[in-house]
Amino acid sequence: MVKILKCDDCASIVQLLAKGDGKTCSEHMLEFPIQTEGEKSPKHKPVVEIDGNDITVKVGEAAHPMDDDHYIQFVLVESNCEQYIKHFKPGDAPEATFTINCTKDMTVLAFCNQHGLWSAE
Ligand SMILES: [Fe+2]
Repeated sequence: MVKILKCDDCASIVQLLAKGDGKTCSEHMLEFPIQTEGEKSPKHKPVVEIDGNDITVKVGEAAHPMDDDHYIQFVLVESNCEQYIKHFKPGDAPEATFTINCTKDMTVLAFCNQHGLWSAE
């Protein structure tokens, strides 16, 4: 499962690619909880459309704002041993289409700079 963390020292957002012993960074690397429900869900929970091997992800049912101070920073799709990521900037449409090799065991995540990590489940 994908793990997205935030460094409490420098505010960088990183993905855990391989687990270490955690002795040096567990104090300042905080894992983002993956959210799926709640009052902010309609504008954050990714909506996934699958057409063959094309995966289109829109954030969310009602389009999320893409303002300078509040926007979706990235969408990530993980399927078996592959990952696809699209990064966004303010003003972009919060949606992405990926052509992937396998649609089994997919995890689809969206990250809002103010409201954290959201999963399509
Ligand atoms: Fe948000």
